[in-house]
Amino acid sequence: MSEHDTPHGEVVGTSDGHGNGHSDGHSDGYGSTAVRLDQGHVEGSGGLPERFANPGLPPHVPRMSDLDEKGAKRAEKQVAALFGLSSLATVLFIVAYFAIDPEQSGYIPGIGNASLYNVALGVTMALALLGCGVGAVHWAKTLMPDTESVEERHPQRAKDEDRQRVVSELMGGGERAQLGRRPLIKFSLAGALALPPLAILLPLVGGLGPMPKDTLSTTMWKKGDRLVRDPERTPIRADQVTIGSVFHVLPESIKDSEHVLEDKAKAAVLLMRLNPDDIKPQKERDWGHEGIVAYSKICTHVGCPVGLYEQQTHHLLCPCHQSTFDVTQDCKVIFGPAHRPLPQLKITVDSQGYLIADAPFREAVGPSFWERGSA
Ligand code: FES
Repeated sequence: MSEHDTPHGEVVGTSDGHGNGHSDGHSDGYGSTAVRLDQGHVEGSGGLPERFANPGLPPHVPRMSDLDEKGAKRAEKQVAALFGLSSLATVLFIVAYFAIDPEQSGYIPGIGNASLYNVALGVTMALALLGCGVGAVHWAKTLMPDTESVEERHPQRAKDEDRQRVVSELMGGGERAQLGRRPLIKFSLAGALALPPLAILLPLVGGLGPMPKDTLSTTMWKKGDRLVRDPERTPIRADQVTIGSVFHVLPESIKDSEHVLEDKAKAAVLLMRLNPDDIKPQKERDWGHEGIVAYSKICTHVGCPVGLYEQQTHHLLCPCHQSTFDVTQDCKVIFGPAHRPLPQLKITVDSQGYLIADAPFREAVGPSFWERGSA
């Protein structure tokens, strides 16, 4: 072994020729050709120590709450106050949710004109979450054990005795966190953890909007409603409907609708006249008028308008996925992915010869979701 100078800095030692560094007499444990630069950085191959010295942990500095029970009590109250603040904010959130009109706005310093509802919900939810989080951090910093421990590397699967020890330590976690000794924290924490989820759930459930009630299964059609052309909205006399013709029809009451598009999307109807002898089911003949029949225009597959009428075959075709309905068989599905026939609207004529609905639709129109009856 010999020592020599290098351009990098202090000479550490030389290799033994087998790639294994060995001591050169220096007490730092570096061997072979490694060169130690400033701040202990080592450069060169084969010169790294087999094991770095364990720097150890800094000495544990006891906290005020470790030394003084009064200090611990004070910290406990602070933690409880933060958890209590969180619970209170959640209660205020719920009160604000029900008490403040969402349309109400007002001037808020620093913000300007804003929705009081949004501001109240935002501030109370922030306080609820903040109280919970800050309380937990303060609790960990002041009262929970803060001694650091080192676990040496080991095979991934721990020894059985270690696993048992971990289980027992986890089971005893509440004890070490002093939950038993500090019931104030225990109960305030329970409140702070149990209530904030309500602040998230409430707007989610409330924000789903009003219940649909029967709006999905009913249309505007009612007994006595005149059939009017779409889009002209002129009434139709029975003698104007010739064999082979087709009319796109809406209820006359659509003019009073506040949601025209939604109502039209459900109430649209196709009106056709067939030779009564071509109509096979007696029910279809009874629900029509001298061969004039009316069927929902909304495809029972996924709701496209069934817009194509083939007058020779009396087939109605939905252009979306080619579902085909046979008008001579009560609009039974004869091809395509639809599962239900188109619902028939029962019609008749009024005293002036105009076509009117004799009853609302007897079943829901449109796609067959939610098992709304089958063919
Ligand atoms: S929507 Fe009519 S076939 Fe698909």
